[in-house]
Amino acid sequence: MSSILIIYSTTDGHTRKISQRLQQVIEQQNHQVKIVSINDEADVDLTLFDKIIVGASIRYGKHSPHVYQFIKRNQLILESKPNAFFSVNVVARKPEKRQPDTNPYLKKFLKQIVWKPKQLAVFAGKIDYPKYSFWDRSIIRLIMWITKGPTDPKTVKEFTDWKQVEAFGRVISEM
Ligand SMILES: Cc1cc2nc3c(=O)[nH]c(=O)nc-3n(C[C@H](O)[C@H](O)[C@H](O)COP(=O)(O)O)c2cc1C
Repeated sequence: MSSILIIYSTTDGHTRKISQRLQQVIEQQNHQVKIVSINDEADVDLTLFDKIIVGASIRYGKHSPHVYQFIKRNQLILESKPNAFFSVNVVARKPEKRQPDTNPYLKKFLKQIVWKPKQLAVFAGKIDYPKYSFWDRSIIRLIMWITKGPTDPKTVKEFTDWKQVEAFGRVISEM
């Protein structure tokens, strides 16, 4: 039995929801999982875990600066254990942009960091127009219009392929 930490960066909660699904799948394989927001990382001792998973969503083309800082600060410890990284974004709603080597954000991110995660995944995120500020809603609708996604301001839609998330959970269990 392994003890696994999933540390996530989210703005609207969808990366936490994906982390919770990973937790369910991994716990079914008889491992222990702790999920922690990257904002509370000071409260956890990374050395206590056998494997570390980092997950982060994209906002305006980037993962949060906290993610970069966390990785930089903990690079040696991450590299000393089985580890993985996953990115959540809506470009990944298109299957051809959902692979680590086809998703533009993950490709760029990996060039910006020194850590080379042992396992990688890209998951499609969620659109929740009613929840967004007027400004965010307008910009995301414009991007969706350009990329042929939903533009109805009432749209609340999860693009996440939960089977893909579950399969990644099994990869983590076995790595
Ligand atoms: C203000 C804002 C900006 C976003 N920018 C991007 C973007 O540049 N590219 C993209 O693919 N998705 C973008 N998204 C979609 C998010 O990645 C998606 O909603 C994801 O599910 C958010 O996860 P979270 O709730 O864990 O933060 C954006 C969403 C919001 C609300």
